[in-house]
Parts: sequence; structure tokens; C-alpha cells
Amino acid sequence: MPAEVETQPALHQAISDTHLTRSRQSAPLDLARLERLVLTGFMGAGKSTVGRQLAARLGWDFVDLDELIESRAGLTVPAIFSQYGESHFRKLESQALAAALGRRNILLALGGGAPEILTNRLLIEQTPATATIFLDAPFSTLFDRCMLQALNTPAAGTQPAELRPLLADPATAEARFMARRPIYRRLARLAVDTSSLSTGEAVDAILSALRPRSSSRT
Ligand code: S3P
Repeated sequence: MPAEVETQPALHQAISDTHLTRSRQSAPLDLARLERLVLTGFMGAGKSTVGRQLAARLGWDFVDLDELIESRAGLTVPAIFSQYGESHFRKLESQALAAALGRRNILLALGGGAPEILTNRLLIEQTPATATIFLDAPFSTLFDRCMLQALNTPAAGTQPAELRPLLADPATAEARFMARRPIYRRLARLAVDTSSLSTGEAVDAILSALRPRSSSRT
């Protein structure tokens, strides 16, 4: 039995109103009709941290696409980039995405570049009962978060680009961000501005936009 979704409407109404943008459809996302939620956004958007907490609240499985790629390839993402290049990584990414979308009741956190590939967008859009949520923030915020994450990794002295090869050149990374942002927006049913939200607040904001299972049959 899936977990009932508990939201705290009064407390989180302000967060919802300020930070959520519904794209294409204005109707709330109906959780009763969904089997997969896909989190998208640039590096540092919080897809994995928000995704883990959201999956736990929904009682769904959490799948991090980068981790799935790593376990299927037996190599880390940076090692795939350095040994085989980005185009090979993208092939592995599409294969892992197709495998993940075959599962039900999953919260899938994409890598930041996955939506750039048309095949990936079609895979997501053509998988029934699947909705995408875009975690948005300005590039400077995202870049700072990635720097902090690198500082806080267990391996002391890790450079940000060792964790995320595409951050090696900040100007190129910003150009990628500018090119991708409209793609994220188009793919998503819901956009959440996470720039001033904690992980818990972002999770609550998303839950407030999902029509709970208990009221979905009305
Ligand atoms: C990438 C983002 C990374 C990872 C890879 C490429 C990108 O994932 O897939 O380094 O192209 O933006 P995160 O967005 O989870 O950091």
C-alpha cells in the first residue's frame, strides 16, 4: 500500500505560491494517476537530495540516474568521461534512462544533461503516468552549491570538476545552463524555484502541488 502523502497546507501555502510554476497544464498533478516522477535541473539543483526525501515521503523507490549508469558500467561518471568521452556517457545515460522508466513507483533524478538529448525527452514524454518536475535556481547559486558539495566530499581536496567534469570551465558551464534552462522548462509539468528553499521546503512545496491519493478519486 503506497504511503499517504501528508502535506501541511497552511504552513506551506506561502512557499507554494511563491516558488511553484505550473507549466502547460494548470491542473494539479494527480498522484493517483502517476507511477513515476522525474526530477530535472542543472548540476547543483538538488535533484538527488530533494529526490531522496520526496521518494521517502511518497513511499516510492528513489533512482539516481548517474548512480544507475555507474553501477551498470562499473565505472564512476568522471571515469566514463575521462576514459570514453561525453558522447559515450550520453549513450550509457539513454540506456539507463530507458531501463529506469520501465519501473513503477519511482522517483527518478536525472543528470543535468539528460534532457538535452531528444531521445531522452521522447522516452520521458512517451512513458505513461510520468511527470517531470524542474528544480530551478540561478546559475550562480547552482555553481556555488557544486563548489560546496566538492568541499564536503569525504575525499579531501576533491576538485569540483573531478566530481562533475562539465564544471571544469565555468563560462562553458554557464553557456550550457542558458541553453538547457528552456529545455528543462518545456519538459516539466511543474517548476520549483529552489534558490531560497531548504531541501525539506522544496519537498513540501512539491508535495503541496501533488493532489494527494486520498482526495484523487473525487
Ligand atoms: C552532467 C550532470 C551530472 C552528470 C554528468 C553530466 C551534465 O549529473 O550526469 O557529470 O551534463 O550536466 P548532476 O546533474 O546530477 O550533477
